[in-house]
Amino acid sequence: EKQGFKHFMLKEIYEQPAVVRACLDAYFSADWSVGDSTNSPIKLGLPAEIYANLEQIQIVACGTSWHAALVGKYLIEQLAGIPTQVHYASEFRYAPSPLTPNTLTIGVTQSGETADTLAALAMEKERRQDKEPKYQARLLGITNRPESTLGHMVTQIINTLAGIEIGVAATKTFIAQLMAFYALALDLAYLRQTISSTKLQEIIDGLRQIPGEIEATLEKQEESIGQLAHEFAETKDFIFLGRGINFPIALEGALKLKEISYIHAEGYPAGEMKHGPIALLDAKVPVVAIATPGSVYEKVISNAQEAKARDSRLIGVTPFNHGEAAEIFNDFIPVSKVDELLSPILTVIPLQLLAYHIAALRGLDVDQPRNLAKSVTVE
Ligand code: M6R
Repeated sequence: EKQGFKHFMLKEIYEQPAVVRACLDAYFSADWSVGDSTNSPIKLGLPAEIYANLEQIQIVACGTSWHAALVGKYLIEQLAGIPTQVHYASEFRYAPSPLTPNTLTIGVTQSGETADTLAALAMEKERRQDKEPKYQARLLGITNRPESTLGHMVTQIINTLAGIEIGVAATKTFIAQLMAFYALALDLAYLRQTISSTKLQEIIDGLRQIPGEIEATLEKQEESIGQLAHEFAETKDFIFLGRGINFPIALEGALKLKEISYIHAEGYPAGEMKHGPIALLDAKVPVVAIATPGSVYEKVISNAQEAKARDSRLIGVTPFNHGEAAEIFNDFIPVSKVDELLSPILTVIPLQLLAYHIAALRGLDVDQPRNLAKSVTVE
């Protein structure tokens, strides 16, 4: 049931605050506080063997789940200090990384049925089977359907609690995957003592504010993004830029737009523009830049400046509408100011809305885009 929404995708975008709340309740303990050194604030319930002597993590996934994995890599490396590789499952299955001891392999798939992801995990399990114990496969699944094939293949699961998603474009399941990665990265950081209790508390408190912030974004932005979409109904190419933890969000913004509006879009790490893609830019190619406060803000602004100098229309996803941002951006999509680490959960929301409104304006079948299926069960 669409419950009054024109499409399932829009309904699912609006369900995201509730999804984040469900994940917060499930993954984090309500009564933990900084002074508590006996209990963990994170309650994923994963067994100690998964974490013991961990030296490396490799993640396999496809599409939007692969983007969530890239955010996960950033979180795990920066918070817990564990080297983490993210692979397209379809590539990994035919050219796997050499075996290394004490490696955790994570498969991320909302449906739990994606053929390439399942094959990559099965291969990883198989090739480690006869090896000495430190090479044994430690497998973890992050899925929205624990009853799926993935659920039967691996013994440990983080259940992403998004509820059934009908729109082919993944929205609320992506947000839930991000939540799973926050919990996992914080759990690892807590156990390995790479994070102070105060910082841990600060991040968890920040996560608890996220549902309200998403609600505010939806309430304040939907109409103006709907208006902005009119400007781009005929646009042929789009570029999305982000850096650091928001680089995967640039990829996700571009993927959402191409899959439902059929507009060519590319996501790039902003600093990579000058190594080729900048040649594409002119007045006909709008550039969406994610410029949130933090370690790379100034860098993104100067990369946006380079695009502006090529006459591109600049759309800023940023909390700042003054100073240098005001000079560069032609259009603003305001997002709240939050800790840089938490920003992806907020910056992706307006990009989902932008893709949705452009596709809806073009009169396209938003929930069932051409050539796509909800889960890709063939190779
Ligand atoms: O079910 P999965 O998470 O394994 O699906 C992976 C991709 O097929 C999926 O994310 C696809 O890219 C979406 N349609 C993106 O919106």
